[in-house]
Amino acid sequence: MLTLDTLNRALLLENIHPDATARLTKAGYEVRTIPRALGEDELIEALRGVSLLGIRSRTHVTERVLAAAPDLLAVGAFCIGTNQVDLTAAARHGVAVFNAPFSNTRSVVELAIAEIISMARRLPEKNAKMHAGVWDKSAKGAHEVRGRKLGIVGYGNIGTQLSVIAESLGMTVYFYDIADKLAIGNARRCSSLEELLESVETVTLHVDGRAGNRGFFGEAEFARMPSRSLFLNLSRGFVVDHAALRRHIESGHIAGAAIDVFPSEPRGNNDEFVSELRGLNNVILTPHIGGSTEEAQQDIGEFVSGKLVDFAASGATSMSVNMPNIALPSVPGTHRLVHMHKNVPGVLATINRVLAEHGVNVEGQLLRTREEYGYVITDIGTTYSDEVLNELHAMDVTIRLRTIED
Ligand code: NAI
Repeated sequence: MLTLDTLNRALLLENIHPDATARLTKAGYEVRTIPRALGEDELIEALRGVSLLGIRSRTHVTERVLAAAPDLLAVGAFCIGTNQVDLTAAARHGVAVFNAPFSNTRSVVELAIAEIISMARRLPEKNAKMHAGVWDKSAKGAHEVRGRKLGIVGYGNIGTQLSVIAESLGMTVYFYDIADKLAIGNARRCSSLEELLESVETVTLHVDGRAGNRGFFGEAEFARMPSRSLFLNLSRGFVVDHAALRRHIESGHIAGAAIDVFPSEPRGNNDEFVSELRGLNNVILTPHIGGSTEEAQQDIGEFVSGKLVDFAASGATSMSVNMPNIALPSVPGTHRLVHMHKNVPGVLATINRVLAEHGVNVEGQLLRTREEYGYVITDIGTTYSDEVLNELHAMDVTIRLRTIED
């Protein structure tokens, strides 16, 4: 399919931050916003003539939707996860998908810090007692976090930022990651999870959601932690055995826990929260709000709308979750051909042969492949015939061809 970028319409669903609308409007888009998620049929209808779609976690972009939306160029998931989008089908239809993997990193870190201090000072218990009319003024069991040994498991975006802020509070940071990671500041790398568990007094999990992490922190790991340790999980619910955690809290071996994520979470705010961790002293339970702040929402709005605008305007796929990642600076006075194709040998040679046969000069070019797909950006002079485009479009391997004119 040949798209000549005549469609400047964007559809934003699910109450995406207004900064996204502002960014798209400024870039010349006519933006329609709908505050809720749309079902498949409604979405197909709403996508007519729309080139950019913004969703959050509740709208499902399925193969059927993608097949019925030939005008759609890109989907922005204004959140972290992209499970709600059929990424493979999107690539097959030449639709780029973007998300905001870092926008709420700082929010998670701040909640973790707040919880570590709260648990060390036993605020959950003190607060509950005050509300019950009990004045329990005592220093017993209350500690400063300065000098406390913090063990970070999973030293990625969140883990490293937490490392910096924890050190600035005077904590001594240890970390363990299955990948080789640069130690930030004075953080100490542990060569095994066991080493970390035996070295620290507070353990916080920031691992990713890969399948192998299911239940990776259970009875044996809690048992290895020193007595009266604190434990936090703000990563994924399924990584921790909650029955084991409950036993260790009830025995007093774990002195406090802060849990933001659960193996099974209510579908909505009206459903009951069911967990074996309810009703325990010095345990902070929060409804998966680690990344939920106004600031993070605003950052997500700006970040993802920026990715959509750049993709539409220049073909840049940097940080796309389903396309080969490319960004090529534009050359003034050129037109840009953006060609998405099946990844088989010889595509670049064929494109360049077609251009050469029509006397079209290449001013700049970049190709990247990712699994079954290839993506090439070619900047050419502004004079060329429709025949060139038709020939490129007619190549067996072409998934999508766009021309972008300055
Ligand atoms: P990331 O991908 O940057 O870092 C994860 C790190 O964990 C990687 O360095 C990886 O090598 C490491 N890792 C994976 N499995 C491991 C294991 N078994 N042992 C040790 N290291 C392991 O991810 P990011 O952005 O730092 O996020 C971390 C977690 O936080 C993710 O699970 C994410 O879903 C969750 N998250 C939770 C939020 C909330 O609202 N509570 C908000 C944002 C993210």
